[in-house]
Amino acid sequence: MPQPEQPTTRRAARRDAVRHGRLRALRAGALVVVLALVVIAAVAIAGSLGGPSAAPVAQATGATAPTDAVDLPDGAGGSAGPATGLPAPAQTSVAAASCGDPAVAQALASGSDADVLAAFGGAAAFRAAVAGGTAPCVDLSDSRRVWVIVDKQRPLVPIDFEPAEVTAPANMPRTADGRLQPAASDALSALVAAAAAEGAGSIGLNSAYRSYASQTRTYNGYVESMGRDQADLQSARPGFSEHQTGLATDVAACDGGCSAIESFGGATQGAWVAANAWRFGFVVRYEDGYTPITGYEWEPWHLRYIGTDLAQVYHDGGFHTLEDFFGLPAAPTY
Ligand code: DAL
Ligand code: ZN
Repeated sequence: MPQPEQPTTRRAARRDAVRHGRLRALRAGALVVVLALVVIAAVAIAGSLGGPSAAPVAQATGATAPTDAVDLPDGAGGSAGPATGLPAPAQTSVAAASCGDPAVAQALASGSDADVLAAFGGAAAFRAAVAGGTAPCVDLSDSRRVWVIVDKQRPLVPIDFEPAEVTAPANMPRTADGRLQPAASDALSALVAAAAAEGAGSIGLNSAYRSYASQTRTYNGYVESMGRDQADLQSARPGFSEHQTGLATDVAACDGGCSAIESFGGATQGAWVAANAWRFGFVVRYEDGYTPITGYEWEPWHLRYIGTDLAQVYHDGGFHTLEDFFGLPAAPTY
């Protein structure tokens, strides 16, 4: 029966020992290579399965969960808001604060509109949160807020609301007494001064705050002169007018005497206001072509104050109605 070969001399034994040493070295090397391949394969498999090492990488690169994302306008055109069916601004996702944040609750309790915008991370983030439905703590019917929305679907609350303070804008011609909430009043004076300085001519005040009783008289006058259907396209029913907030004004072109507001859209002043009102915190509330959303015909003279921060977002985002701005339904009828 064959026996394994045995070394017969010391030299032969050394030769065998060297041979066996090389063999062990070769075996050890092969083992190292195999172990290395196993380790590499294990790492590759873990990576492809999204193992524990993958999550921190995603976090470190700034990836956020979809629930943290809100939409912001960037003025490039794109998705449509709920009110229109008309082109609406494109949106950009950014993280924003929420109603659950203590800073937001504290700002709301303070009564400062500016603090609330700041707590949300700025006016753009505020708008995005409201329009996106993630800010239920923001009440768009709160008549004391600069962002209050009044339209045919959203009466003032209470219906006979009166602003705490209204003042007469300084340094502008006027066809009637008119007062606005102080911030809006100051902003209108600044707008009028800028229009004159920039060569647009003189802008005067035609109407401003109107109480519930005053709006009743105004609306009834329209109904008597043109019938209810046409009146509803030009005048708000009492309790449904922005004028009652003290944040809306009608302006006129006043070069050598003030013209009727109906000619404002064709005046130099009207073009300037359409392009520049946002710089002073105003928006032209009833633009041409948006009656299906606002419920009113074109009123290039009717300016609504929303503050400079929100007005900048409105302008930059290419919005045309406050309904679209805040993601509200169209309000063509009562
Ligand atoms: N003319 C606007 C719609 C108002 O009466 O408030
Ligand atoms: Zn008006």
